[in-house]
Amino acid sequence: MEITDNQKLPTDDEVSLRPQSFDEYIGQSKIKKNLKVFIEAAKARQEALDHVLLYGPPGLGKTTLSHIIAIELNANIKITSGPAIERPGDLAAILTNLNKYDVLFVDEIHRLNRTVEEVLYPAMEDFALDIIIGKGPSARNMRLNLPPFTLIGATTRAGMLTGPLRDRFGIVGHLEVYNTQELAQILRRSATILNYELDNDASIELACRSRGTPRIANRLLKRIRDFAQVKGSSVITKEITKSSLIHLEVDDLGLDTTDKKILRCMVEKFGGGPVGLDTLAAASGEESVTIEDVVEPFLIQLGFVARTPKGRIVLPFGYKHLGLVPPDKLEQMAFFS
Ligand code: ADE
Repeated sequence: MEITDNQKLPTDDEVSLRPQSFDEYIGQSKIKKNLKVFIEAAKARQEALDHVLLYGPPGLGKTTLSHIIAIELNANIKITSGPAIERPGDLAAILTNLNKYDVLFVDEIHRLNRTVEEVLYPAMEDFALDIIIGKGPSARNMRLNLPPFTLIGATTRAGMLTGPLRDRFGIVGHLEVYNTQELAQILRRSATILNYELDNDASIELACRSRGTPRIANRLLKRIRDFAQVKGSSVITKEITKSSLIHLEVDDLGLDTTDKKILRCMVEKFGGGPVGLDTLAAASGEESVTIEDVVEPFLIQLGFVARTPKGRIVLPFGYKHLGLVPPDKLEQMAFFS
């Protein structure tokens, strides 16, 4: 693995918990099955795997899956991100350093700027780099050949990709939130790697509170392990899990303090909405992207919040979770919906 910029380096623990093969990777079975076929076929033809776009909410394993793709291709992976590639020259430097069949992983690919994106089009389509030498009337266009490579683009916002860029990916995979059984299985695997025994019912309890996201599940597991360790227990029981989650301020459904702050802010400052994203961000002190990418999808999934053309509103279940009585109008909405 080679990292082409120093953004978002994973911690040692994240690396050690990361599955190294499709067999170790739990969940996302549809994408996995298809990718196995495409990889086998590309290898048999002695071609680079077609470019892959992975999209879905943060923490579901886009980076992990990209590492596995590179491993299964017996290829090197180079890692960078959209905002790190500021100028066309930065991308040209990365592309000209690639070896045959390498994987180039670009995280947050929706944040590439347009001039950089234009360099990427011929690189993806023809494995070529078009460079202009000189200025004015004597300027000449020169085409440099690149080795065949696979671009893996990851994004939380497929809708923010330009059409021409999206169209150049031959393989598109949508990562979905994990179900409780899958998360519990991931947690049991992680606990074994961390040298802890995780009771079956503890794994289910924690899975239920991890908002469908392995990154959150593993992060909570590591903190619960700390509580177990200090208690002198080599086994993580359901009781230890529950008491640790109280200390970590994660509630029965997996809402943390930020989720609750946003929900409460919508009720207390905006009468339950409708409220716009930027207004909510300013009033709550959280960044709009955090609200939009992390908090809101979960609250919507739980049926606590809805998006309307006028803005976000709190739904009856949202009020009830905060221990509040929903306004009459909303009770009727829930009844008829
Ligand atoms: N750790 C994080 N994500 C995982 C997954 N999908 N399978 C196994 N372990 C994981």
